[in-house]
Amino acid sequence: MGRLSEAISRFKKGQDGIDEDFSSFVGESNNIQEKKRREGWISPDYLKSPHVYLDPGVVAENRCLVYLDNVPEMESYRVLRTQIMQRTQGSGGNTIMVTSALPGEGKTLTAINLAFTFAREFQQTVLLVDGDLKKQDIHKCLGYDSERGLAEYLADSAPLPELIKWPGIEKITIISGGRPFPASAELLGSPRMRDLVSELKSRYPERYIIFDAPPVLVGADALAFAPLVDYVVVVVQAGKTSMDEVNKALEFLPGGKILGFTLNRCERPL
Ligand SMILES: Nc1ncnc2c1ncn2[C@@H]1O[C@H](COP(=O)(O)OP(=O)(O)OP(=O)(O)O)[C@@H](O)[C@H]1O
Ligand SMILES: [Mg+2]
Repeated sequence: MGRLSEAISRFKKGQDGIDEDFSSFVGESNNIQEKKRREGWISPDYLKSPHVYLDPGVVAENRCLVYLDNVPEMESYRVLRTQIMQRTQGSGGNTIMVTSALPGEGKTLTAINLAFTFAREFQQTVLLVDGDLKKQDIHKCLGYDSERGLAEYLADSAPLPELIKWPGIEKITIISGGRPFPASAELLGSPRMRDLVSELKSRYPERYIIFDAPPVLVGADALAFAPLVDYVVVVVQAGKTSMDEVNKALEFLPGGKILGFTLNRCERPL
């Protein structure tokens, strides 16, 4: 916790530190970029994507910090990413839904930090999608305004290229939220959503697509959406979610798609 507080206060001190840390992703010299390219580092050109700017204070407050170097949680997310890659590579599957049994267990935080961690992987790019249409928290956690997202694409036919935003961090793009959408289970299970997932899935083979999803035991959204993705990661809040609740959630999810569990808010490393 000490190291985390230090990282957060370092982060909050102002733009200077942030710019330094950001430089591992953006604003690198041509020489470094050329070296990375030679080594096989995949670095798409996001100049055409609409930009959003993360608010460092809000990002730190919400612990979405693992795009920075030397953040204590980074190693845990690296382990999670590596396990996911080992279990998925060669399978043709690259769409992952992050869910949990109950509200507030850390799904959005996990989805964001996992996406940042994938973006740090040599040959991987990542698209993070806010699929929790009732809440749409990703842009709030990252501190930027977002008026249109997945719901607007599905319900209002908003053009997809306008919704895929680049947050200034190499190798990651985000479809964040729009207005909260009450009839979200119908949208998430719709043929248009199915078509979108298969379009996103096949467009870039090196890209993982991570969906932040609602909880399983509250509403039908996660159940409606699970059949469309290749894999499911289940977040479990340590000391809060009971085994009964986890088991009940598992009964609703397609067993073959469950990649594993991630224990959030664990007091000490396992
Ligand atoms: N490991 C953690 N340490 C400290 N705070 C955490 C941790 N994980 C989550 N939180 C905090 O708990 C709250 C809920 O987290 P988050 O929004 O990620 O959960 P969620 O499962 O997406 O919730 P919801 O079901 O409402 O969408 C947030 O304020 C978040 O910052
Ligand atoms: Mg959430």
